[in-house]
Amino acid sequence: MESGLNITPIGYIRSGKPLKFDARHQPDEKQAETNILEMIPGDKYQKALKDLAGFDRIWLIWWFHRNTDWRPEVLPPRGPSKRRGVFATRSPHRPNPIGITPVQLIEVKKGKLILGPCDLVDGTPVFDIKPYIPAYDSFPDSKAGWIDEVDAALSAPPAFAVEFTPLAREHMNWLQNNWGIDFQVRLLEILSRDPSPHRTRRIRSRHGDLFDLGCGAWYAVFQVADQTVTVLHLKPAFPLKFLNDPARPVLPDREAQLAFRSAWPKLVD
Ligand SMILES: C[S@@+](CC[C@H](N)C(=O)[O-])C[C@H]1O[C@@H](n2cnc3c(N)ncnc32)[C@H](O)[C@@H]1O
Repeated sequence: MESGLNITPIGYIRSGKPLKFDARHQPDEKQAETNILEMIPGDKYQKALKDLAGFDRIWLIWWFHRNTDWRPEVLPPRGPSKRRGVFATRSPHRPNPIGITPVQLIEVKKGKLILGPCDLVDGTPVFDIKPYIPAYDSFPDSKAGWIDEVDAALSAPPAFAVEFTPLAREHMNWLQNNWGIDFQVRLLEILSRDPSPHRTRRIRSRHGDLFDLGCGAWYAVFQVADQTVTVLHLKPAFPLKFLNDPARPVLPDREAQLAFRSAWPKLVD
């Protein structure tokens, strides 16, 4: 065991995103979103934040604390269904699960930083902050290996048309209007490119010619014919025994899933 490799959090992120699914793969700079880094109380950390206010951006160096395993090869969510060496990806499943994110620094307050969009789940421990310095940290003309290939493929027109049955539209509107849950962008983005089974994109082949795509605590059930994907309906992902189990107090969208089961009992197992 090496000595001197101790590391402790300097603070924790309050992002309001309890689920990994809710956090973006990288920060979405188009979202008008604020997040907070709550520093561990104490004069030392307060002093360490001196002079940071003039920087537009900072690097957060943090821990994927929700992960327990790592894999030498991973299946990135974007691009074709192809495994990549974990060091050639930003996957959370790393031998030392350290994340790095350049975030907008909106304000330095006593004991906390107000930040722009980020890709961290609520409660993520943060180990360090460094100023983002464009002259040191930005090399926009650098090649980005397989990511460049994926981006080039994504700039081509989508290969599949996506249609929704009236029932699927009813489900999407019901989720949106009653529970503020909106999957339309994700469904269109993923299914119009490639609806084939993919573990990280959570697409599975089901019985017959049916497939489903996991969206947080929900599934979208679909069929593919020629170059058209038809979304048939949505359904809750958790079985009733989980939803009613008091030993599982924090199930995502629990109330919404129970309400869906009452409204469309024939669609759930
Ligand atoms: C693809 S990683 C990229 C993280 C960082 N920007 C990087 O490049 O190192 C972002 C994903 O990590 C997951 N994630 C965020 N916070 C996490 C945490 N504390 N533990 C485990 N997974 C987390 C979320 O699913 C999010 O979509």
